[in-house]
Amino acid sequence: MNIVLADPTGFCFGVKRAITELEKALSVHGTIYSTGSPIHNPQEVRRLSKKGLVVVDDVSKIPDGARVFIRAHGESPDVLAGINQKSSTVIDGTCPFVKTAQNKARSLSSEGYFVIIIGNPEHPEVKGIRGFVNGDSIVVNDRSVIPEKMPSEKTGVVCQTTQRYELLADITSCIVYKCKELKVYNTICNATYERQKAIRELAKVVDGIIVIGGRNSANTSKLFQIARGESPAAVWIEEAAELQEEWLVTKENIGIAAGASTPDWLIEELKYKLKNTGSQRGWKR
Ligand code: F3S
Repeated sequence: MNIVLADPTGFCFGVKRAITELEKALSVHGTIYSTGSPIHNPQEVRRLSKKGLVVVDDVSKIPDGARVFIRAHGESPDVLAGINQKSSTVIDGTCPFVKTAQNKARSLSSEGYFVIIIGNPEHPEVKGIRGFVNGDSIVVNDRSVIPEKMPSEKTGVVCQTTQRYELLADITSCIVYKCKELKVYNTICNATYERQKAIRELAKVVDGIIVIGGRNSANTSKLFQIARGESPAAVWIEEAAELQEEWLVTKENIGIAAGASTPDWLIEELKYKLKNTGSQRGWKR
């Protein structure tokens, strides 16, 4: 059995940076609070919880003086103000690319632009970016929801960091007909694009693809959709134990692709299981 890993795969720069900071803080202080899940991977959150991470769904649940971690997706200024009031120390894991999108959204609104954020309105990163706008704004994820008439002659655009370039191009090409002045900041980060490109290339050289990552991870879900589109022999698992051995039969070249929030240790466990299963069955490697 040959195992081929998508390249790049697993943790992106921003998630790696955030989790490294969080682990450092946990090892020194023991207990760290986080508003919402710090990463869309249940296994990794469980591992961090054993080290002292406490996930709460609202700032009001953070005790006064606690240490608080800000996830890579960032938070809105309102939430940050609430955290600052309560906490003795803030460990800021906000990805620098997300910070750029937040700052661009703020500067556009201070310059008098009506701000359009391209992205998923329910995603925490998008809610956070919108919080940085000091005037009117909308979130759009499809050209059908762009207003017929813009409320201002000046329109500014920023994008959720993980959106597709095609969507940014499609939406801006529609808006350009509806305003006198259009300023677009391309705040897309390459990590998602590179992982999607890698899985398409992987599909060409393997008999089946295992996508590993949290079921609550949007980027893992997208990787799986792409894998399914390219090769029907694609499965999505959260951890190695879920993999059915029957799936491996008849497959000689197996590809692995992991979401940007899948830690290395889950990928290593999967590789170990694959190698172990192969050698028990006398398969060649
Ligand atoms: Fe940052 Fe891009 Fe990852 S925005 S969190 S490096 S997907």
